[in-house]
Amino acid sequence: MNINILGIPMDLGAGRRGVDMGPSALRNARLAQRLGELGHSVRDLGDVPVALPESVDKFSGSGLDFLSPILDASRATVERLRALPADIFPITIGGDHSIAMGTVAGNALRGNDRGHRMGLIWVDAHTDFNTPDSSPSGNIHGMPVAQLCGLGNPELASLAGDWRLRTEDIVMIGIRSVDAKEAALVREHGIRIYTMKDVDQLGITRIFEETTEYLSDVERLHVSYDADALDPSVTPGTGTTVPGGLSYREGHLLMELLCETGRVTSMDIVEVNPTLDTGNKTAEVMVEMSASLMGLRIM
Ligand code: ARG
Ligand code: MN
Ligand code: MN
Ligand code: MN
Repeated sequence: MNINILGIPMDLGAGRRGVDMGPSALRNARLAQRLGELGHSVRDLGDVPVALPESVDKFSGSGLDFLSPILDASRATVERLRALPADIFPITIGGDHSIAMGTVAGNALRGNDRGHRMGLIWVDAHTDFNTPDSSPSGNIHGMPVAQLCGLGNPELASLAGDWRLRTEDIVMIGIRSVDAKEAALVREHGIRIYTMKDVDQLGITRIFEETTEYLSDVERLHVSYDADALDPSVTPGTGTTVPGGLSYREGHLLMELLCETGRVTSMDIVEVNPTLDTGNKTAEVMVEMSASLMGLRIM
């Protein structure tokens, strides 16, 4: 496969700094080499420019922290991705999870200006389905999925023009922290969610089978993998840890099974924050997770 890596060193959507160093940490953990060893041809496209919080006005734009520079970086992300040929598998590396607004929109528009029907597999401790009205923190990294569905801020909602992610084309796995108003939104919009309770009860294999069946009609499949989906003992270097997460093997098994379908067309790795890590452990684990999605097998 032809893999293109694109860095988005964004920390404007998160409540704390340091996640902008995620792309460096993942490159340092030999992301490209690791995927190359699996037989892929890998190209690193470098980084999308993202403003530094110190260099911009936090309150420019309409009421949301860092709205203007997040819009700029998201639009740049969309343009980079939509220009890629259809046979490329993009791996976008963050950066906080607000980058998914641009990555999902850009991948939807790739090869089709009106947008493909996209399935989204959101592997995360959080549903990231807040809107500016529901968010207790005001942090945009808690909002990307709602924005992709057209809720919330109209400028963030129209990164892909008129294209919208369909609420019935989303599956979330690993969920264990949802804000009160956010939970009401998720329910109202009928998002398919597998919480950690479901992981414990059903197991990853059953969840995988239901997920691929549920998303059987989509044209493209994007995996957005937040490092905090995994248990903090596995990936400590991330800004919003929640106890009781996916085990190392559960994380890998999901990627191994998704790989076998041959249906996944793009991936994000987000929320790796080296300033909170033990060595570079979190980036190393996330590189291994991407390798499992791209064909790494135990034997
Ligand atoms: N629900 C919280 C918020 O909206 C936390 C979101 C965490 N999101 C993330 N991408 N780590 O502020
Ligand atoms: Mn997230
Ligand atoms: Mn999260
Ligand atoms: Mn369906």
